[in-house]
Amino acid sequence: MGVKLAVPKKSSSGTPGDVKDVALASRGKGRIEWADAQMPVLREIRDRFEREKPLKGQRIAACLHVTTETSNLMRAFVAGGAEVALCASNPLSTQDDNAASLVKDYGIATYAIRGEDSKTYYKHIHQALDLKPTLTLDDGADLVSTIHKERTELIDGLLASMEETTTGVIRLRAMHKDGALKIPVVSVNDAQTKFMFDNRYGTGQSTVDGIIRATNVLMAGRNVVVAGYGWCGRGFASRARGLGAKVLVTEVEPIRALEATMDGVQVLPMAEAVKVGEVFCTVTGNKAVIRKEHFQAMRDGAIVANSGHFNVELDLEALQAISKQVKKNIRENVDQYVLKDGRSIFVLGEGRLVNLACAEGHPAAVMDMSFATQALMTEWCVKSRSKLKVGVIDVPRDVEQTIARLKLKTMGISIDEMTPEQRKYVESWQEGT
Ligand SMILES: NC(=O)c1ccc[n+]([C@@H]2O[C@H](COP(=O)([O-])OP(=O)(O)OC[C@H]3O[C@@H](n4cnc5c(N)ncnc54)[C@H](O)[C@@H]3O)[C@@H](O)[C@H]2O)c1
Repeated sequence: MGVKLAVPKKSSSGTPGDVKDVALASRGKGRIEWADAQMPVLREIRDRFEREKPLKGQRIAACLHVTTETSNLMRAFVAGGAEVALCASNPLSTQDDNAASLVKDYGIATYAIRGEDSKTYYKHIHQALDLKPTLTLDDGADLVSTIHKERTELIDGLLASMEETTTGVIRLRAMHKDGALKIPVVSVNDAQTKFMFDNRYGTGQSTVDGIIRATNVLMAGRNVVVAGYGWCGRGFASRARGLGAKVLVTEVEPIRALEATMDGVQVLPMAEAVKVGEVFCTVTGNKAVIRKEHFQAMRDGAIVANSGHFNVELDLEALQAISKQVKKNIRENVDQYVLKDGRSIFVLGEGRLVNLACAEGHPAAVMDMSFATQALMTEWCVKSRSKLKVGVIDVPRDVEQTIARLKLKTMGISIDEMTPEQRKYVESWQEGT
């Protein structure tokens, strides 16, 4: 957890911000540039934005994980002519060197300190909203929900918002169903160029990375329990299997459970999984997926993590209540809960997204596609402003196709085109057997 050092209201560059220490900027800049090299699609968009200035006059407030990949998205917005303010979507995912560089080197107002308490977290959300945004970006709907609950004066000035993650989209759809949503929101998460790659390969790899960086545990031969076989769960399960782990899956949805079974992993209820599991990771978007009765039945030395959006997936209050002692940070990002009978359970990253709390989050090459989707949809919202309706909007198919083609091009991969005869065949219903 970071020590809060002098917090500049304005950096030497005159940019407002609240970061841990601007002196960390040079390391952050190097890492932002490293990520940029892995993000060719976003770079191409940024170059075009630089020439065309499609976001001129827009004010963008973003509440995202303050990682180097996010920094490159913010750079694309600035290149497009927008004024930008950034705050964190999770108190443990901020990379302080990266935040420092945004303020010092790129002149982007950033309000984020790794390990900030809840009061500071919400103060930063309000500071980002003080920009009076015309567009917002969320990863978990915090800006949209704060605007609807506490900053309703901003609603009239908002063209639209983008939502990055599954949990946020679920909340926004629930808000819309209740008639509570007052702005158009683009469900970026539901774009194929996002969830099929970011949730599966990004969360898959970086969740394994977070668990290994925190514990250095050997995955080969280990019983790894994955709660939730959605996009993230499938990705994590396949990467853990690739390292030789014996993967077990818990689910509440029968089709997903069947899919896991036919993918060759054992499916069982959590009450059974806790008897054999050695490493646990929740990726459900639900709450109390591992709770008191589960912790009580776990093996001594079990390692427990969460890679779903909120830390509520693990009932850590219940774990605390059945523990006689909690030893914080016995290793960086590892807390040891000693139960009354002497068994130990190890919790990683305080139960927050393990890939961001204990590692660096998704690799830049996959965020390239997610953030290219964010950048193009932000531009799309400005261009389509007269047609936008309150509600949850899907990413148009042609935007997804543009991004996929660009990504293939940057990877040096060509694909076939349908011949005119083939196109006619697939579009007709008369030609048959
Ligand atoms: N760590 C990251 O960087 C990252 C990245 C993307 C998404 N997410 C988050 O991960 C979570 C999952 O996202 P997804 O895209 O895989 O969603 P998804 O909807 O595809 O999958 C979630 C799965 O969990 C299952 N589930 C729900 N409650 C359960 C329970 N009690 N026990 C077992 N299974 C249960 C659902 O049936 C579903 O199959 C969300 O909170 C999302 O916001 C995290």
